[in-house]
Amino acid sequence: MLKEKTILITGATKGIGRSLVSKLETQPNVRFALVARSSELLSELQEHLQRQGHECEIFAGDVAAEPFVISTVQRVVERFGSIDILVNNAGIGRFGEVEGYSLGEWQQLFDTNVTGTFLFSREVVPHMKQQGRGHIVMVASDVSKRVFEGGSAYCATKFAQDAFSMALRKEVRRFGIKVSTIFPGLVDTEFHAEPEGDPTHQKWLRAHDVADAIFYVLCAPPHVVIDELMLHPMIQEY
Ligand SMILES: NC(=O)c1ccc[n+]([C@@H]2O[C@H](COP(=O)([O-])OP(=O)(O)OC[C@H]3O[C@@H](n4cnc5c(N)ncnc54)[C@H](OP(=O)(O)O)[C@@H]3O)[C@@H](O)[C@H]2O)c1
Repeated sequence: MLKEKTILITGATKGIGRSLVSKLETQPNVRFALVARSSELLSELQEHLQRQGHECEIFAGDVAAEPFVISTVQRVVERFGSIDILVNNAGIGRFGEVEGYSLGEWQQLFDTNVTGTFLFSREVVPHMKQQGRGHIVMVASDVSKRVFEGGSAYCATKFAQDAFSMALRKEVRRFGIKVSTIFPGLVDTEFHAEPEGDPTHQKWLRAHDVADAIFYVLCAPPHVVIDELMLHPMIQEY
């Protein structure tokens, strides 16, 4: 179902985004537009995908930088003629008591997790409206719907991202644009203070579990939209 679709993924070089790329590369002729800050990892990924016969454009920059986002979406449309799927996945975490956050840390969390989602969505929506179809997937978090001690800033960004997504869904549905939000629990990636593969993460979700869920959402037939999908490791209370 994803054959010859153009898919723009933010945060594509690591964790959930990287696993989603691995899942999608098993499909024939997917056109990839991949975003992250690290140009080295993006180049490696591009070479890898091109060896598999996929078309792939890479964009190194910050999802919260407006000129970067505008030019990225323009270049994707020029190169591939459409944007079928946007996955707003790039995100960072920072945890601790409120008095430990500097304003800069607070703002960086909101810039990456909320402003990045806003900017990429805003830029793709006019193209998707013109096409009369499109799919925007948000990688939110189970803490878009609940909070935990030490998570004030991060939870606030994920609640905001979810609220934005819910309102956007109402705005764009009549134009044939789907908005799906994924809410993962704990996932073993570099996102956390401990390294990926840390023994304390042993029973957590793997990045590919979340990628499989996103893939399932993307493969829904045209008349079906999966608005929300939450997944947890069995050991995590919710
Ligand atoms: N891991 C979890 O337990 C968990 C649970 C629920 C939800 N989530 C959400 O899942 C999403 C992906 O997280 P992950 O666990 O896969 O994290 P990860 O392994 O740390 O990967 C994050 C990706 O985002 C990119 N990125 C970060 N800041 C960026 C920025 N300002 N501009 C562009 N790219 C940026 C990173 O590449 P560069 O560093 O090169 O930019 C990397 O490719 C996030 O939105 C996170 O909130 C994670």
